Amino acid sequence: MAILKNLKCIIADFLFLICGKEAKDKILKDIYRYLKWNRKIGSRKSSIIRLNFLLLSKPEFRSVFYFRTKRHKLLTACSGILLPRAKSVEISGDIDGGLFVSHYHSVICPEKTGKNFRVGPGAAIFGDNGAPTFGDNVYVASNSAVIGNIRIGSNVIIGAGSVVTHDLDANAVYVGNPVRCVKKIDADEKLLDEIM
Ligand SMILES: CC(C)(COP(=O)(O)OP(=O)(O)OC[C@H]1O[C@@H](n2cnc3c(N)ncnc32)[C@H](O)[C@@H]1OP(=O)(O)O)[C@@H](O)C(=O)NCCC(=O)NCCS
Repeated sequence: MAILKNLKCIIADFLFLICGKEAKDKILKDIYRYLKWNRKIGSRKSSIIRLNFLLLSKPEFRSVFYFRTKRHKLLTACSGILLPRAKSVEISGDIDGGLFVSHYHSVICPEKTGKNFRVGPGAAIFGDNGAPTFGDNVYVASNSAVIGNIRIGSNVIIGAGSVVTHDLDANAVYVGNPVRCVKKIDADEKLLDEIM
């Protein structure tokens, strides 16, 4: 039965193997982010088995995977028939490794992000005349909107339901509409590590 299940992943595995070093590195970093929140994946040692587990069990991960492999249009489309992506997750832009999309219904269209970008359900990141640019280790929590040609620093948490339309400094927690800073994050702060 497990073999039959994994057969579904064959095209996706092939995609992973041929997608090129840069995309592969990013996918491995994405997988690593999902490990933290799912012990079942952590107990699987091989990268390809972890990949298959995520492909089979997490449509939102599939959206990330197909975003990384989008250059191979035909294979991505074929794989998508067997393992459909989460339709309500839209991803574009220059996104570094360690992308963690939790759950569904998000529009993730930044200009650029650093490593370890996390997005909660219902978040919207976009801009009509230039999209936001993010540093490393940023969490945009559920139902938040980050809009426009703005810059968000590294080590930033944007709390649930916030609306951000201007630049935010690094190392802080922001909440609300209009967004305000409620906390600074020190270098040794556990909060970021716990929530990312
Ligand atoms: C932003 C967040 C991480 C802050 O957590 P925290 O550091 O423990 O912050 P605190 O609970 O100490 O709150 C600090 C202040 O911000 C306010 N606050 C916290 N989150 C807020 C939010 N989302 N919107 C408005 N105000 C918020 C608190 O009321 C408090 O205000 P006060 O000082 O006037 O009493 C957390 O509130 C949050 O939004 N987490 C996201 C949860 C989520 O989306 N989960 C989905 C998982 S899939």
